[in-house]
Amino acid sequence: MKVFVTGVKGQLGYEVVREMQNRGHECIASDLAPEMDMEKEGLAGASYIPLDITDEAAVVKILTEVEPDIVIHCAAWTAVDLAEEDKNKKTVRAVNALGTRYLAEVAKKIDASMIYISTDYVFSGNGDRPWEADCTDYHPLNYYGETKLEGEKAVLDNLDRYYIVRIAWVFGPHGKNFVRTMLDLGKKHVDLSVVDDQIGTPTYTADLAVLLADMAESDRYGIYHATNEGGYISWYDFACEIFRQSGMDVRIKPVSTSEYGLSKAARPFNSRLDRSKLVDNGFKLLPDWKDALGRYLLATGEI
Ligand SMILES: NC(=O)c1ccc[n+]([C@@H]2O[C@H](COP(=O)([O-])OP(=O)(O)OC[C@H]3O[C@@H](n4cnc5c(N)ncnc54)[C@H](OP(=O)(O)O)[C@@H]3O)[C@@H](O)[C@H]2O)c1
Repeated sequence: MKVFVTGVKGQLGYEVVREMQNRGHECIASDLAPEMDMEKEGLAGASYIPLDITDEAAVVKILTEVEPDIVIHCAAWTAVDLAEEDKNKKTVRAVNALGTRYLAEVAKKIDASMIYISTDYVFSGNGDRPWEADCTDYHPLNYYGETKLEGEKAVLDNLDRYYIVRIAWVFGPHGKNFVRTMLDLGKKHVDLSVVDDQIGTPTYTADLAVLLADMAESDRYGIYHATNEGGYISWYDFACEIFRQSGMDVRIKPVSTSEYGLSKAARPFNSRLDRSKLVDNGFKLLPDWKDALGRYLLATGEI
């Protein structure tokens, strides 16, 4: 299978290219950077093409030339607070909504399928029931979430053979994430406050890449929710486990979101994603998040 992956320099895109390469697929990876030494980056065998997905002509030209069987779209603007400042400039919308639309439109023309990665932020975060994959009660609380939902619509408008996979609380060795932030803070401070009223489940990119590769190799299309297993937890619970596994002596105080202070972007309290549709459609669930965290800490040399 010929696979075109966006966002290879990000947390998820990197792991997706690695997993698809390992399975013997032909991988063409892309991102904003003008070049990427795939061998040096541990992705020998995959090729790299620079592509700004907000450049419609470039998207059309490159995808038409490459003619992949599937586009796995991992690129996005992911700086949630910064996105709020960008509303007037519309850069975030250009990346998350328009960029996705351009990719979906060309995918349709060249008869490729597509995997689009979305987020728990398309929901309001009200209540405490897990959001089911087919729930359409969308109500993004912030601009990032709004633009990601527009990306979903762009996929639905154009394609029949698509996967929309909503994930949450992502961590992977290639990029910024909560685990890295906690470890950096824990090296400088012995006392930390972490919010304990936002509830969800972490998603380890290496585990998610296995599921996405399984999806790419199947035709059980649709909208799915995917995170690691191991129950619903707070950021406080996650932080406690990070310091426990890394053997760091840090005192953590659980605080509410309002005690912690306002961030620019509102965040959902209830990010519980129901993954049962994966099982219903014969996909394997991801491993427990604590196990995933251990493998992340080993992979990044933290333990
Ligand atoms: N991170 C999370 O907690 C989280 C949670 C839920 C869902 N998601 C979704 O999961 C997917 C993967 O997230 P991630 O954490 O792997 O993201 P990431 O690490 O931020 O990687 C995104 C990549 O996309 C690139 N990119 C940005 N604008 C682009 C453009 N115009 N054209 C081409 N590439 C562009 C970025 O380059 P620069 O770094 O140079 O901008 C970066 O390399 C995204 O769709 C995201 O919305 C993430």
